[in-house]
Amino acid sequence: MAQTRTPAKHFAPLAIGAPEPFRALPVKLERMIHFVPPHNDKIRAKIKDLAGQVDVVLGNLEDAVPLDQKENARKGFIQMARDTDFGATGLWTRINCLNSPWMLDDVIDIVSSVGNKLDVIMLPKVEGPWDIHYLDQLLAQLEAKHAVAKPILIHAILETAEGVNNVEAIAAASPRMHGMSLGPADLAASRGMKTTRVGGGHPDYGVLADAGKDGATPRNFYQQDLWHYTVGKMVDACLAYGLKPFYGPFGDFSDAAACEAQFRNAYLQGCLGAWSLHPSQIDIAKRVFSPDVAEVKFALRILDAMPDGTGAVMIDGKMQDDATWKQAKVIVDLARLVASRDPERASEFGL
Ligand code: GLV
Ligand code: MG
Repeated sequence: MAQTRTPAKHFAPLAIGAPEPFRALPVKLERMIHFVPPHNDKIRAKIKDLAGQVDVVLGNLEDAVPLDQKENARKGFIQMARDTDFGATGLWTRINCLNSPWMLDDVIDIVSSVGNKLDVIMLPKVEGPWDIHYLDQLLAQLEAKHAVAKPILIHAILETAEGVNNVEAIAAASPRMHGMSLGPADLAASRGMKTTRVGGGHPDYGVLADAGKDGATPRNFYQQDLWHYTVGKMVDACLAYGLKPFYGPFGDFSDAAACEAQFRNAYLQGCLGAWSLHPSQIDIAKRVFSPDVAEVKFALRILDAMPDGTGAVMIDGKMQDDATWKQAKVIVDLARLVASRDPERASEFGL
């Protein structure tokens, strides 16, 4: 049997003076995690405006930051965290991976200077629960030392074959876990998938319709979603442990329609958001990860028709029962959360 802590130890702070771990995640709208390069002065100057437009701002210190800018990115992140009032917008950072020469200083410098403003650390290339345990302990020590009042959460990127294999153990590793994102670029490389794309489909991955009986009817080829299996596996692991699953990056900024289709598959499968790497992807994520207006109105009718959530009723010829009441509640809860930050959508929903 896998070794696990007793329930009491699982929820105890890992350092004397560190804040109590959360028993349930804070309720937050996180439709997009918007990536910014903190070493870029021009972008840093626009963070205040940006914070008003997105649900989460993430200062990226890992891949895409050149070697000679690693320390500037870390310093730039600390600067933007100090200078900006993020209000209800989340402040995250993606640190360098555990086997890099920068990770330790990323964590120490950031928590010691802006630990009270930081909501979540995104940890790349997580392979198993041991990676989470290490960061968990380190964060508790630093929180205690620097009087951080609320726990800094960990968000794992699922982007190695070993990580996917251990996804449930990663989800279960600590009450500090916030959720996970699919990292399709690193994952493709780690698994030996034959694609150079960052997320999205591949024109050669699909199924060919059967040959018609006459042998003359053209056979259609239907492209399939390369990421379906991994997203499904990640969603189950996350939801089983009360965590939040996310789709990660979509690298082809010129193909907004394909980005929207990939985000929507993830949304329908249970994901709560995706990364936006380009400003044009912010509105795509808002559209996709906010519930559909007609769906919200129908879900509200189900909840109205079944005030205690039991029994069976017919609405527009469709059978409703306790299970569809729960489905409706997922949609309405999300709609209320969106409405709390998005007045335009609140009026469309009639909330
Ligand atoms: C993201 O980090 C990815 O590798 O896709
Ligand atoms: Mg990656």
